[in-house]
Amino acid sequence: MQRFFNPIAQVIHAQTGMDQTVILSLLEIPPDRSMGDIALPCFRLAKEWRKAPQQIAKEIADQIGDNPWLASAVANGPYVNFMMHRAAVYHEVQQAFSTSASILQSSRGQGQTVAVDLSSPNIAKPFSMGHLRSTVIGTALSNLLATDGYTVLRINHLGDWGTQFGKIIVAYRLWGDENTVKQNPIAELNALYVRFHEEANLHPELNDQARAVLKNLEDGDQEDLALWRFMVDVSLAEFERMYKILGTSFTHQLGESFYNDKMDAVVDELRDKGLLIESDGAQVVNLDAINLPPCLIRRSDGATLYATRDLAAALYRHTMLHADKLYYVVGNEQKMHFQQLFHVLKLMGYPFASACFHIGFGMMRLDGRKMSTRKGQIVRLEEVLAEATSRAKAITQEKNPSLDNLDAIAQAIGVGAVIFNDLKTNRLHDIDFSLDKAVAFDGETGPYVQYTHARACSVLRKANFLQEKSSPATLVVPLGTPAQGMDTLIDDPTWQLVKELSMLGVIRERAIDEADPSLIAKHVLDICQAFNHFYHDCPILSADEPLRTLRLSLVDLSRLAIRACLDWLGVGYPAEI
Ligand code: ARG
Repeated sequence: MQRFFNPIAQVIHAQTGMDQTVILSLLEIPPDRSMGDIALPCFRLAKEWRKAPQQIAKEIADQIGDNPWLASAVANGPYVNFMMHRAAVYHEVQQAFSTSASILQSSRGQGQTVAVDLSSPNIAKPFSMGHLRSTVIGTALSNLLATDGYTVLRINHLGDWGTQFGKIIVAYRLWGDENTVKQNPIAELNALYVRFHEEANLHPELNDQARAVLKNLEDGDQEDLALWRFMVDVSLAEFERMYKILGTSFTHQLGESFYNDKMDAVVDELRDKGLLIESDGAQVVNLDAINLPPCLIRRSDGATLYATRDLAAALYRHTMLHADKLYYVVGNEQKMHFQQLFHVLKLMGYPFASACFHIGFGMMRLDGRKMSTRKGQIVRLEEVLAEATSRAKAITQEKNPSLDNLDAIAQAIGVGAVIFNDLKTNRLHDIDFSLDKAVAFDGETGPYVQYTHARACSVLRKANFLQEKSSPATLVVPLGTPAQGMDTLIDDPTWQLVKELSMLGVIRERAIDEADPSLIAKHVLDICQAFNHFYHDCPILSADEPLRTLRLSLVDLSRLAIRACLDWLGVGYPAEI
């Protein structure tokens, strides 16, 4: 409905002379739908106008006469409740979905580039649930930003450098075996890493060896580098498999090691700008002024750190890739790291520091347990996706035994279920992951949305009206103008659906502004709920004209809205389930 706040404010302004921005700031949606579609509370006006709010409400209601948007304006105590002309709203929504699809896109980001740092798993370590969250949130955000006209760079900042490589290489040399690693790379390399930690507790000198290896790597030691490359290659092959299943793509796959030759310049720049100080032999940037611990730039042995590589990466994205805004989709636990990073950029005098955003997110718990990799208690994402797919297959087979393409559909449902489950929660909150709940066809799940979409397709198919091309709505009911006479065609369940559809554009922009795809997931659930009530209560194919065409066109618009949302979220939508 917010979509109509502007035109309504215009009407009220034209007919009462009240200031339009004031009206806009006051308009709201009444909690009880039967009261009206939009309400104007008059309390704030009462002060200014020195009249009782009830009196003001009555006067405003009396002044609103005939107009194309409002069917009625009724004073109810201190409120004016407005009922919209349903057909006019329907018409608007229909227009907004067709040809230019203004509900589905805008040009707010035209001419600007955003770099989205997403996924970014660590080489030789399992792809964790945290990386899954970063991948799906980052993908959804990138898709949404693209609808605003931004050029979006999707960057995989692979963790392919740092102390862990010293540790794994030491462990590999001591206890590893090439063939075993090749057979099951990440699990084996991770087991070596876990073993390193156990043994290093008893033999702390192992840590010194690991640091020495890292130093060798940074100095370009060929033998150590060859081992490192081997680990990168075998890990990447495993990640690629995962990305394929998830449908993830990147414009840039630049690991931390990519910045090795750009690090000295960063350190020099920090020194030239007078920001580096020495602390226990290490080089740091002091951040006392903002009450943060110092940002470590170079260790006493000369090795660079995670933050140093991130500084180099930020500068690269800004200067070489021309990114105007930098988004980092990384778990809440790294909040401080990004505060430090952005502040150092600011101290370096880069204005784009204020266009850097940490898009944090909560932790995923499996049936209440934290998922961690340190102690080897890992949940393998690939297994979770495979299990989700096999459950989806069982359920789908039972529902519709004659489906062609069962495997592809089951994968879209199983994987979609896991993605949707992740995205429907406000990103900052922790998520309890339960496979049973995620793949259920009822409840607030991906399969429920996909099923609703398939149901819409099926109605359109029966009416010979399924257009497979993605864009504009195909059915237009000629309601003529003024369309008020047609209001009665739009009964309550239909109206509820029209209203939900009308909100998509506003919610899309809000999801971008808050960098939170859960707004889209929640909204598509609302659309599906409204659609299913409508489907249940209003006969479609057996209705008389023009009702039949009107209802069919709403099925079509619902289908387009649902698939747009699923597209943004990165969830598939089989036409038949
Ligand atoms: N590889 C890191 C981790 O798994 C995440 C990297 C996030 N991106 C960044 N630019 N720091 O914790």
